[in-house]
Amino acid sequence: MYICVCKAVSDKKIRQLVQEGATSMRELKQCLGVGSQCGKCIPAAQELLSDTLAQVAPVFGEAIPCTVISHHTVA
Ligand code: FES
Repeated sequence: MYICVCKAVSDKKIRQLVQEGATSMRELKQCLGVGSQCGKCIPAAQELLSDTLAQVAPVFGEAIPCTVISHHTVA
């Protein structure tokens, strides 16, 4: 399914880019052109970005536990 009609970007392309390391709308725009013309796709692209990050991000959340940062390291 096309998420961005103006740039012919599918949900599959967005998921693939996120799985390859993209984490923001700015990266989706830079790499695929998502949201760079009419902008109507931005809400759907953001939702897809969030959903895909939630699927791939749990590993990151476990790698950096909040307890590692003490009040001495926060300026
Ligand atoms: S639908 Fe994505 S910029 Fe128009």
